[in-house]
Amino acid sequence: MYQLGERVKFSLFGKSHSSYIGGILEGIPAGMTVNENLISEDMQLRKPSAGIGTPRSEDDKVEFVQGLYNGKTDGNPILFLIPNQNTDGSKYLKFIETPRPGHADLPALVKFNEHDIRGGGQFSGRLTAAIVAGGSIVKQFNSKFGITTSAFTRSIGSVKDTEERNIADAKISKKYPTRACDQTLNDAMTEEILNASKDMDSVGGVIECITTGLPIGFGGIWFEALDAEIAKAVFGIPACKGIEFGKGFELARMRGSQSNDPFYYNDGVKMKTNNMGGILGGMSDGAPMVFRTIFKPTPSIGKEQDTVNLTKSENAKLIIQGRHDPCIVPRAAIVVEAVTAMVIADQIQRGL
Ligand SMILES: Cc1cc2nc3c(=O)[nH]c(=O)nc-3n(C[C@H](O)[C@H](O)[C@H](O)COP(=O)(O)O)c2cc1C
Repeated sequence: MYQLGERVKFSLFGKSHSSYIGGILEGIPAGMTVNENLISEDMQLRKPSAGIGTPRSEDDKVEFVQGLYNGKTDGNPILFLIPNQNTDGSKYLKFIETPRPGHADLPALVKFNEHDIRGGGQFSGRLTAAIVAGGSIVKQFNSKFGITTSAFTRSIGSVKDTEERNIADAKISKKYPTRACDQTLNDAMTEEILNASKDMDSVGGVIECITTGLPIGFGGIWFEALDAEIAKAVFGIPACKGIEFGKGFELARMRGSQSNDPFYYNDGVKMKTNNMGGILGGMSDGAPMVFRTIFKPTPSIGKEQDTVNLTKSENAKLIIQGRHDPCIVPRAAIVVEAVTAMVIADQIQRGL
């Protein structure tokens, strides 16, 4: 099992083509009402959308084995399963000999004697369904503290949203398949994905995640810093290749006089700008916590690629068939929300 957190602890298990994937969520107190409709809504947001996602279609029905009683948490670890129904491993078997560039096949085959290559095994984006289910419960826990987390698509390929966005915009993105904040951007991003797909190729992009309601001083410091633990969790999501808080890498080109967020009083201490993304010293400064994370183009593409034949120890060509997302970004947004909420809940329960 793969684990995140200490007091609110999430354990993830399963493989792309095992009977089930699932999760165990510990540390959510007894007596909390769990709204299963909200879980279904989040699961829906991770599903592929017609045309721009993988043709693999799963019900993603979350089966609770223990931890919920009469719609409330009962204090036991919440254990849930999600069946894998729509599996076809046949197209993957050749990757044992000819690993896919950009995917985990090569290091996994070298590391694990019994690696299950079907669907990418435990490296599959499929496992993120369980993260989303767990994250959905955790978001309900965080909302009791007035904390809301919502993500949206900032860019896909060359299409970039250049507007200032807030949490309301991020919530609106849930009605667009690309998770863009408006129809025009959604159309442009859809076209970008379809063009890549037509070229038997894939495209990456940037997800922005906003959290409101964190009080000033919330969060750990040093290696327990809120941003440090979020970065670790977000990097755990397959295909994530970068993260920046606030103005991030742009800060390298600014002067302190431009980058510092000036304080002022208005019903408490506020910031005039939010270049730091709401984090100072690892703790919340009271401004919305804002970070962006980069998801690479989907590694499995239809175009012919150079690889190696591990049996014959010679160079080889590879054409990938099977069902793949031409762009991971729209489906990953809700996963980013989930792990962010998990880190926050864990830090709440650790008293940081
Ligand atoms: C929601 C989601 C869906 C994904 N779908 C695919 C896919 O259809 N095909 C693929 O090759 N990779 C897909 N990936 C990415 C791979 O799982 C990932 O690139 C691979 O495990 C290697 O890990 P790395 O990119 O972090 O190095 C997906 C990732 C996520 C988060």
